[in-house]
Amino acid sequence: MDDSRETNAPRGDGKVVGVRRLKEAMAKPATTRIFTVANQKGGVGKTTTTVNIAAALSMGGLRVLVIDLDPQGNASTALGVPHRDTEGIYEVLMGGSNITSVIQKVAGFPALDCVPSNSSLANAEVNLVSMVARELRLKEALVEISPNYDYIFIDCPPSLGLLTINALAAARELLIPIQTEYYALEGLSQLLETYGVVKKRLNANLDLSTIVLTMFDGRTRLSNDVAANVRAHFPKELIDIPIPRAVRVSEAPSYNQTVMTYDPLSPGAIAYMQVAREIAERGKPKDEVNFDSNVVNINYKRDGEIA
Ligand SMILES: Nc1ncnc2c1ncn2[C@@H]1O[C@H](COP(=O)(O)OP(=O)(O)O)[C@@H](O)[C@H]1O
Ligand SMILES: [Mg+2]
Repeated sequence: MDDSRETNAPRGDGKVVGVRRLKEAMAKPATTRIFTVANQKGGVGKTTTTVNIAAALSMGGLRVLVIDLDPQGNASTALGVPHRDTEGIYEVLMGGSNITSVIQKVAGFPALDCVPSNSSLANAEVNLVSMVARELRLKEALVEISPNYDYIFIDCPPSLGLLTINALAAARELLIPIQTEYYALEGLSQLLETYGVVKKRLNANLDLSTIVLTMFDGRTRLSNDVAANVRAHFPKELIDIPIPRAVRVSEAPSYNQTVMTYDPLSPGAIAYMQVAREIAERGKPKDEVNFDSNVVNINYKRDGEIA
């Protein structure tokens, strides 16, 4: 894999030194791709997928923004961005702050920015209700800055309330992370229903373009069954590179890092890098497409390591 870096990462001590950049740049989309990462189930890997794909695309030379739309602020934490006592997306949605003034740089990446959340965001669901064009607040805020980025990812809270509706109204694409577990597809119909309503009423351009399987364990029949099931229903949307369940992925946030810097050669980081590259390839301007996704399939050995 072409993931040589300009610097060597100190592993796990919480400090990021230098800037990570891949030797082989990733394909730049013709226009800004805005993704909403949504699934009303908690703990399925929305935040992990958001921050790691965003980090990987940034390492591939693209300009990327992450918007943390979850009051828990996990994406802000994983990106090492201060978010407790700072203004963030809540103040933007409420009209008190300009979005440009709350954008923060993410250390260690060439062009990765974050609009953090803060605990006030928990009040947004209630306070938005009485506002004019309450579903379109985020979309309106993004107009000004979206030309500055190749990719924007909006990390949603685990609900289908007004925050997620704002995200769906603001995006062009929906990315659904699906955890490969027993109840994986349960609740998906509710999300698809919301997607349908938003598409009809608020955002005709929205496209469920991408599904990523998370916490995959190739040794279990269950993971493989879920993968086969999702592939059968969403052959075009599914990215055929599952993210393995991997301890380094879950350790990284406690060091305020993505796994892309925390342990770049670990199986989880390699998988997210390949998923990011496939997303970039799919988003290439049409005349440049010559991509065979089979080339980057990962083979899992029995012990869960990548072959
Ligand atoms: N591939 C993975 N391997 C191991 N743990 C993971 C993986 N992906 C996510 N996790 C862990 O699972 C938990 C839920 O993930 P998270 O991304 O926060 O989900 P969500 O944003 O959907 O609530 C977190 O503790 C995270 O570190
Ligand atoms: Mg989350």
